[in-house]
Amino acid sequence: MASNHHFKRPNQPLSSSSTSYFYIFVSIIALTSLFLLSSHYLAYYSSPPVVRIESLKPTKQYVSVNNDDNGAASAACDYSEGKWFYDPTVRPPRYDETCKEIYKGWNCVAGNRSGAAEIVKWRWQPNHCALPQFDPLRFLESYRNISIGFVGDSLNRNMFVSLFCSLRHVTSEVKKWRPAGADRAFTFLKYNLTIAYHRTNLLARYGRWSANTKGGELESLGYKEGYRVDVDVPEGTWADAPSFHNVLIFNTGHWWWAPSKFDPIKSPMLFHENGQPIIPPLSPEIGLDVVLRRMISYVEEKSKQGTVLFFRTQSPRHFEGGDWDQGGSCPRSQPLSLQEVEKFFSVGNNGTNVETRIVNEHIHEAIKGSAFRLLDITQMSEFRADAHPSSAGGKKHDDCMHWCLPGITDTWNDLFIAQFSSMT
Ligand SMILES: *[C@@H]1O[C@H](CO)[C@@H](O)[C@H](O)[C@H]1NC(C)=O
Ligand SMILES: *[C@@H]1O[C@H](CO)[C@@H](O)[C@H](O)[C@H]1NC(C)=O
Ligand SMILES: *[C@@H]1O[C@H](CO)[C@@H](O)[C@H](O)[C@H]1NC(C)=O
Ligand SMILES: *[C@@H]1O[C@H](CO)[C@@H](O)[C@H](O)[C@H]1NC(C)=O
Repeated sequence: MASNHHFKRPNQPLSSSSTSYFYIFVSIIALTSLFLLSSHYLAYYSSPPVVRIESLKPTKQYVSVNNDDNGAASAACDYSEGKWFYDPTVRPPRYDETCKEIYKGWNCVAGNRSGAAEIVKWRWQPNHCALPQFDPLRFLESYRNISIGFVGDSLNRNMFVSLFCSLRHVTSEVKKWRPAGADRAFTFLKYNLTIAYHRTNLLARYGRWSANTKGGELESLGYKEGYRVDVDVPEGTWADAPSFHNVLIFNTGHWWWAPSKFDPIKSPMLFHENGQPIIPPLSPEIGLDVVLRRMISYVEEKSKQGTVLFFRTQSPRHFEGGDWDQGGSCPRSQPLSLQEVEKFFSVGNNGTNVETRIVNEHIHEAIKGSAFRLLDITQMSEFRADAHPSSAGGKKHDDCMHWCLPGITDTWNDLFIAQFSSMT
């Protein structure tokens, strides 16, 4: 849960209106973890085949062979590059602001964000194909008895909530529960299809570290405080997810570029392996590479035969006029132009939101040759400076990191379901 609000925790007092149970819960989780040390349109244009679990399970060999160098499914159309078109035609909504899972801070219609209703009037048009809006009823009917796990930070939760609301809109019998360490999960009973969210910031387990008075390798290098990150230990919230779900969607990224939490001087990340500090200490960027490699191997080893594995690329932030804690805001009412996108996100420009493409370089490298497929939402999202909650609901700082719901994570799910359907 990488809220730009609580990057500043624990020294930032909770602001009343925007915090609510969610932020409080998140900070409790953060604190608790300190102690834990110890033909692609099938689903839309034609009747999809009824998929049995067995047929959802290509061998791992098959999955990796189909992985090209970019990690994208080679058989599928490239949905990741394209343009947004304004299309004000009235369409029945997938879901609306009454969906109860929408966290208050992301509910832009209810929170009176100006232009909130415009956000869903833009349609993503990939350069060489179409990305249809997925049909939730067909999806449920086609994928009975399966379980889908989202594993990652609050941006993956944002995507999970979008999928929940879309499915809940067409079927009402839902069981809420917490399988396999999930923060929350819902089973759509009529179809026995489950979706779950597993909360984890770094994927690897981490917690507070303080110098031991008896000394040690880190102590002798002058470290006093920090965070111990175990590169080889998955966080408990998702360690059982690979053996439970049939489909997994991972992400991590925002927390690796959160200097207000992992301050390089005051509270650095101190990487450990086999319970011992890694000496010399690794920079966060190298630490990220090691963690990605270790966690990817862990998932490949623990997942059931044929589990479909996705790694979602980094979700861009759109702070202008400063970062989240420097009065930055995202007041735009339209998507950015291509030129603006490059100005915001080119690594060479070192802008406020520069981490987006840097994180992606690490992810691309890490999944090469693995069973993971890329869910590349970055470019489509880079355009959408207009789609963040901003000051919706009267926040202390603008939220230019999460996304309004309904909003563009609905399109992320269209992409996920198009890629997934093309494989099964
Ligand atoms: C789902 O599971 C039930 C009960 O195990 C079974 O009867 C049904 O055929 C399964 N459906 C599919 C599509 O696999
Ligand atoms: C949004 O506007 C409506 C109508 O003006 C008002 O009743 C409601 O309290 C506002 N909601 C928020 C979160 O500001
Ligand atoms: C529901 O689906 C799960 C897999 O997600 C399966 O283990 C379970 O047996 C199914 N239950 C029924 C009643 O079909
Ligand atoms: C990028 O910008 C940040 C903050 O504006 C600055 O601290 C950092 O040194 C810059 N990095 C480079 C490589 O220019």
